[in-house]
Amino acid sequence: MKIISILGSPHKKGNTAKVLDCIADELRNNGHIVKQIVLNDLDVRGCQACFACKQFPDEPACVQNDDAGEIFEKMIDADAIILSTPLYCWGFSSQLKALIDRSICLVTGYGAPNFKSLVAGKKFALIATSGGPLENNLDILQTPWEREMKFLSAVNAGEFMVPDCYNAGVDENITSEIVEDAKIFARELAK
Ligand SMILES: Cc1cc2nc3c(=O)[nH]c(=O)nc-3n(C[C@H](O)[C@H](O)[C@H](O)COP(=O)(O)O)c2cc1C
Repeated sequence: MKIISILGSPHKKGNTAKVLDCIADELRNNGHIVKQIVLNDLDVRGCQACFACKQFPDEPACVQNDDAGEIFEKMIDADAIILSTPLYCWGFSSQLKALIDRSICLVTGYGAPNFKSLVAGKKFALIATSGGPLENNLDILQTPWEREMKFLSAVNAGEFMVPDCYNAGVDENITSEIVEDAKIFARELAK
């Protein structure tokens, strides 16, 4: 499989990156091609809600000339996409949220007979970490994630959520048990 892994944390060696790397390594070890995109290194501006993209259902035709277009081309070319984020104020990081908002250019005619999604049927997975607990905190991401998967007509390959990343040392947060669970998640994703 060709897989795009998208880091939505500003920390290249933080909790989110560490979990994402575990999953990417396991996928590579199983013969898959994984290419990483670090959103914080790129220019992805917020959606301008102009809906100009709706005139071009066959391409991710956003009028903004930044890095989002190339990311969307890579997503269209991939079999599976892994998005990752730290929990920021009970939501996605602004880096990832900007990309998710911009993904409106991948869909035309939502809920109408002319519906088209350029990523329909592709597998998407979400990796998320938080300082606090899962319940009533990190699990908040589940609802927007599931709705976004429906909007994109994508296959929700699941969410891998790692709460309680409260230790200062990153290595202490991501325990060997979490690493093993991440490997299982990776193998399930590639099935
Ligand atoms: C701006 C900001 C907002 C945060 N909001 C929350 C939050 O709402 N709930 C929570 O449990 N942790 C919150 N955290 C903690 C991060 O989600 C947590 O430390 C995460 O694992 C960081 O991932 P990283 O190492 O990839 O940056 C916040 C951290 C920052 C910097």
